[in-house]
Amino acid sequence: MEFVHKSIMVEEILEYLNIRPDGVYADGTAGGGGHSRAIGEKLSSQGTLICNDRDPDALAACEKRLAGLSCNVRLVRGVFSDLAANAGQPLDGVLLDLGVSSYQLDCAERGFSYMQDAPLDMRMNPEDKLSAWDVVNHWSEEELTRIFFEYGEERFSRRIASQIALARSQGPIQTTLELVDIIKSALPKAALKEKQHPAKRVFQAIRIAVNDELEQVRSALDALVENLNDGGRIAVLTFHSLEDRIVKNAFARYEKPCTCPPEFPVCTCGKKSLGKVLAKGIAPTPREIAENPRSRSTRLRVFERRFED
Ligand SMILES: C[S@@+](CC[C@H](N)C(=O)[O-])C[C@H]1O[C@@H](n2cnc3c(N)ncnc32)[C@H](O)[C@@H]1O
Repeated sequence: MEFVHKSIMVEEILEYLNIRPDGVYADGTAGGGGHSRAIGEKLSSQGTLICNDRDPDALAACEKRLAGLSCNVRLVRGVFSDLAANAGQPLDGVLLDLGVSSYQLDCAERGFSYMQDAPLDMRMNPEDKLSAWDVVNHWSEEELTRIFFEYGEERFSRRIASQIALARSQGPIQTTLELVDIIKSALPKAALKEKQHPAKRVFQAIRIAVNDELEQVRSALDALVENLNDGGRIAVLTFHSLEDRIVKNAFARYEKPCTCPPEFPVCTCGKKSLGKVLAKGIAPTPREIAENPRSRSTRLRVFERRFED
């Protein structure tokens, strides 16, 4: 299947990364290479672009997309929580475009979609051990309730988890559409009439659990910000409130880490600011949203590292 993915907020990202032609930049979520290509075109033969993804199909597509660039290109297969270490050098800019690509969603056999029938999978890296099948068939009813509620913000999490437990007592749940039917059978009639697909929240929750997505973001940010050069920037595109909150709180903490009570006349905790928040959750333009409805919930956050004098 051809790798199709429309990159989001490309102009805004290029502007905020403020690319130096001879700088070192990393795309932690290279996907089909759309953003990587745009960054690479701003770099000279002295510049370096590091493209990282945990999905081998994505990296193969990215490699093709970057053909002919004049900068140095390094492809890295791995999770972005290891990117700072794998880069092996300080960076002038990093991009994280979180979540899954349209290619992953549209590729039925990857099992991300509630619209097409496929084995329950949802692994971004097909070599990872944990799949959606394991979560759905082996995690306890309590654990399923928790992830549907926490990661999917699903208000019927308990009913759905209980229906899954009942269904799997007859034999393993094998496919995405089997799971969709079970979810639908657990929901009250009124909830089935809502605009959003009835399985959307549960599928999001399982995908987040399978790929450990929130922990990935939490552990990546500290290391990536520490690894920025003076004036280096990190741009993150988020797609739902859970990951957006993590990025927002982390950036606020990097800017103002002081934990002293406000009544203290001087700081005694000794925690120093790492830099400045430059973009606080910018949305795509109405035009971009009209052209690419998948960008509807996107928010852009940017932080600039500033060394102390
Ligand atoms: C939204 S797509 C990126 C699309 C890309 N920016 C483009 O313009 O084509 C997200 C990509 O990030 C990858 N990804 C998600 N979480 C990751 C992680 N923790 N480590 C490495 N790659 C990850 C996915 O495999 C997917 O290819």
